[in-house]
Amino acid sequence: MPMRTKYCGALTAADAGSEVALCGWVASRREHGEHLAFVDLRDHTGVVQCVVDHAHDLRAEYVLRVTGTVRPRPPGTENPSLATGAVEVGDCEVEVLSAAEPPPFPVTDRMEADEGVRLRHRYVDLRRDRMQRNLRLRARVNAALRRSMEDQGFLEVETPVLIGSTPEGARDFVVPSRFQPGSFYALPQSPQLFKQLCMVGGLDRYYQIARCLRDEDLRADRQFEFMQLDAEASFVDQEDVISFMSQAVAAATEVATGGTCPEIERITWAEAMERFGTDKPDLRFDMELVDLTSAFAGTGFNAFRAPCVKGIRVPGGADFSRARLDRLTEQAKDYGAKGLVWMRADEGGSLDSPVARFLSEDELSATALALSAEPGDLLLLVADKQATVRRVLGLLRTELGRPPVNEGGFRFLWVTAFPLFEGIGDDGRPIPAHHPFTMPDPEDLDRLEDDPLSVRSLACDLVLNGWELGSGSVRIHRPDVQQRVFSLLGLDAEEAKARFGFLLDAFGYGAPPHAGFAFGIDRLVALLAHEETIREVVAFPKTQSGADPLTGAPSPLDARRLAELGLRLPPPS
Ligand code: AMO
Ligand code: AMP
Repeated sequence: MPMRTKYCGALTAADAGSEVALCGWVASRREHGEHLAFVDLRDHTGVVQCVVDHAHDLRAEYVLRVTGTVRPRPPGTENPSLATGAVEVGDCEVEVLSAAEPPPFPVTDRMEADEGVRLRHRYVDLRRDRMQRNLRLRARVNAALRRSMEDQGFLEVETPVLIGSTPEGARDFVVPSRFQPGSFYALPQSPQLFKQLCMVGGLDRYYQIARCLRDEDLRADRQFEFMQLDAEASFVDQEDVISFMSQAVAAATEVATGGTCPEIERITWAEAMERFGTDKPDLRFDMELVDLTSAFAGTGFNAFRAPCVKGIRVPGGADFSRARLDRLTEQAKDYGAKGLVWMRADEGGSLDSPVARFLSEDELSATALALSAEPGDLLLLVADKQATVRRVLGLLRTELGRPPVNEGGFRFLWVTAFPLFEGIGDDGRPIPAHHPFTMPDPEDLDRLEDDPLSVRSLACDLVLNGWELGSGSVRIHRPDVQQRVFSLLGLDAEEAKARFGFLLDAFGYGAPPHAGFAFGIDRLVALLAHEETIREVVAFPKTQSGADPLTGAPSPLDARRLAELGLRLPPPS
């Protein structure tokens, strides 16, 4: 008989009577007297009960090969909560293939182990159903993305990992060069420059499931290394890019859910900011920002004499305790507000608030009307500069309204018409909202120098349930426009040449108009798997502090290696 003839989780009543060879790990064992014991054997497909003479020399997580005969369980002992619960394997011969130390935590989804311990023993953690499910989903998503891009005529091209600096705005990870001591490679923050070179190279449609590296603070949705579905195409516009990527994420969502993915909604950046106070709105719930500036135009309440007043309605929030409302006020201040006004809509339809006595009847009724307040609701109001009001209420909206990850379905959203610059930096220069190769909207191009913050770009984002999933843009392919953007950023011709000279040179040799996009596969899979962090869908992630407790990375280099690389460390302080 071969080493294995069936998977544990695949046995059903239809297999009764057949001889099988199973391989797997001991999930549990139960002794019933001298000569009867049950071993639940587990592989990646599930568990099956094996009836053995004795199990006292078998321990949890031992690796076994079991041969025996499948038979129906005796009436009354079936386990309907188990896929294989109608059968068991009898007349078993057990071969111990590997003994095992007691596992550092039980291999079950029913108990949550500490994440540090899980990552230190990730190989045990990976045996749990949750990790098996997530990594298998991830593989299906990768396959679906690849299929979709191939079907759309994209060519898979691998780009290098030891490169110069990339312009994505995070810190580079660097690798010292042995042949040129004192010189360093950077690891790619994305394949951005290479994919644009591929377009100049006539490859027409490029894609890659690309590893990207960014030295930035880690969070639930950020790792140092992560994967992008990265794409670029020539002779296309933004509509084409939106269509390519919509098809790819729809294919991924369909393999995850088994259902069809509805057409993805769109919103402009300006509308998203106005209605949701953020460029990555979670559409699974309402609680939109409502403008109250005109309602308070002539107010006697000092706090509301501000360029902008807005509010949100928290349905049923009138029963929040005073302590909770105080915490919300503190939170609003942490987000940058000067304060937070709350109002409870009572049964009679009037608004109860500590500041009500400073407000006129008209102001109160206009507020109730604008926010469609119903008895039992809580209203939260902030007055300040427009940007502050939006940010604070946008964050409070998410904080108070966001449903759990497994509720509300998958609400993809295209956010278009981003501004070219997101603000002015300390050096007085505009800061690119995307990267410096993003094409300004031709309609706004004549304002580039005089009013750069009002210039829109041909950049868009894809958002899913409040997470930024991806970004892309039509690129600048005309050297004169590129030079104007560089000048605005304070890069003179010489510096631009030093940093991106190869790309500018390439554009001199016949650059097709091109556009592209990239989205984070870790984020997509995490959301499709209903996980709160991308670490749950990465086989071997880093901890929040950037360490790998399993392999011990990062670790010091010995003196000889340092010398070879031409590196000297400062003496320990
Ligand atoms: P951007 O920098 O917006 O665009 O990145 C695209 C997407 O990559 C994912 N992502 C991350 N995922 C996990 N951990 C991280 N640290 C991390 N950083 C980014 C996000 C993000 O939306 N070259 C451009 C795309 C283009 O213009 O074609 C780029 O990289 O999901
Ligand atoms: P003050 O006048 O600072 O004592 O504030 C009176 C109330 O108004 C307090 O509840 C503050 O939290 C609130 N408040 C003050 N400034 C603002 C503001 N800019 N926006 C919203 N609420 C404010």
